[in-house]
Parts: sequence; structure tokens; C-alpha cells
Amino acid sequence: MAEADSKELKSFGADIPMKTEGFFLKGSGSLGWGMKNRLSRIFNPETGRTVMLAFDHGYIMGPTSGLERLDLAIPPLHDCIDVLMCTRGALRSCITPITDKPVCLRCSAGATILRDLSDELVGVAIEDAIRLNAAAMAVQVYVGGEGEHKCIGNLVKLVDAGMRYGIPVLGVTAVGRELNRDARYLGLATRVIAEVGAQFVKSYFCEPGFEKVVAGCPVPIVIAGGKKLPEADALAMCYKAVDQGALGVDMGRNIFQSEDPAAMAQAVRAVVHGGEKPDKAFDLYKTLKNES
Ligand code: R5P
Repeated sequence: MAEADSKELKSFGADIPMKTEGFFLKGSGSLGWGMKNRLSRIFNPETGRTVMLAFDHGYIMGPTSGLERLDLAIPPLHDCIDVLMCTRGALRSCITPITDKPVCLRCSAGATILRDLSDELVGVAIEDAIRLNAAAMAVQVYVGGEGEHKCIGNLVKLVDAGMRYGIPVLGVTAVGRELNRDARYLGLATRVIAEVGAQFVKSYFCEPGFEKVVAGCPVPIVIAGGKKLPEADALAMCYKAVDQGALGVDMGRNIFQSEDPAAMAQAVRAVVHGGEKPDKAFDLYKTLKNES
């Protein structure tokens, strides 16, 4: 059996950007036209970054705080974000089909917070993802979890289906309760997900060492927000993540559980697309909140 190697031997060249020949996104130059077109809807070609709104939490957590009523919570955020990341149930029941926002469709299912979260399966047929005009499909991957083998199998199935029809897959680094969100773990998990074939990867931010996580992953990384933080801290985390190479966020609770979700989404946007410093972005958040 292969052994984990020593971290002293690693050399990430984190200060040398990866060449992106043939397309503006890291590691995507050899993909087909449809795949590139969908990725260009997710990542803004002008900034190369994205603000994805994750509101798929109900598929494992039920009516999460802030998402008790999807029909009330999501429409006010619609114009502040780039991508809707949700389940097909949420999409069909609560999101207008008139939307021009691309959809990153949650395509794994099968577990809840009441049992082992890693016991998932592929929860959407590729035909339904196409029917819903999905710009991408998302799958949870619990590297090191009880269900690791099954989750990686789900990723394989979705990547193979996505390759047939030109739909990229977002592999989501899912951390079980017992696993550390440090650079060593996240570096391993994001790299495994990219090598199995995901066209982009969601990771948590970590410090120190996030720039090494990014450098070791040959495709774009977006960060999840994780549990709700004070707004200033969440904006600082976004800033550090993009500064260290993340190509945006796929953020949920730190937006929809904010005191003012629309103001927070716009402040996150200012950081991600405008490179705004965290203190300025927090000022923007406060101004927008006061105005509303
Ligand atoms: C978990 O249910 C989903 O993968 C979420 O999309 C993910 O955790 C991102 O949401 P948050 O920013 O709330 O962590």
C-alpha cells in the first residue's frame, strides 16, 4: 500500500501561477466547447471569479435557519450573486424559470444529519440535469469518511455523465465531524477530487497553507463559507481565500444567515470581483444594511 509522503519533501511553487492556455480557467483548456461555455457562465470571464449562492442545505439538514422559506429567502438575493447552487426540488418549487442565472445542481443525495452523512448516492439522473438546464452538477465527496469509496464512485459516475453532455462537475470537499480542515487534509481531498475528474472543486478555507491547497489542485477552487461567522470575519476569510488563489465562493450560511443577506452578498461580491479589502467591504455591508 502507498504511504502518505512526508510534507517536508513537497514543493508547491505557490508563487508560480499555472498556465491557462486555451481558456481563461485553470486546468480547463482541453475541455470541449459546451463544457467551456457552461464554465464561462459560472465564472465571470472578465474577473475569472464567481459568487455562487449555496442554498442546498435542506437536502441533508431540513429547514436550515435562514432557509425556512426558500420562496422568501432566495429572490432578494438573486441579483447579487452569479450562480444558484441548489437541489432540483428547490429549483422546481421555488425558483422562477425566467432566471438568467446558471444553476449548479446538487446531484448527490441519500444521507441526512441524522445518520452517516457520507452514505450518499447519485441523486439526479443526467437527463433531469439536462432538463433543468444545469450549468454544473455538484457532488459531495467525503475523502477519509466511512463512505469514501461510494462518494468517489458517485463522482466518477457524474463526471462520466457530464463528459458525455458537456456539463462540468463541482466536487465538494465534505469534512466529516472527525476530520480536520487543515491544509494537509484539504490538499489531499481537493487533489483527489480533481484527479478523479471534477472540473472545479469546493474546499473550505484554512490557514496556514491555503495557497498550497490551491497550488496542488489543477482545477479552480471555490470556498464554502462554513458555519456563520461575524460578517467582518467572513469577508476577511473571502479576501484571504481569493488572495491566495481561490476563484470565488460557493457560500451559504454566511450570506443567508446574515442580518442583511442582500447586503452581505453584495459585500462578498465586492471582495471576489472587485478585490475590495475586508474593512472596505465591511463598510459597504454596513452602508447597504443601513440603507435597507
Ligand atoms: C452542504 O450542505 C452544502 O454542500 C453547502 O452547499 C455548503 O456547505 C456551502 O454552504 P456553507 O457556506 O453554508 O458552508
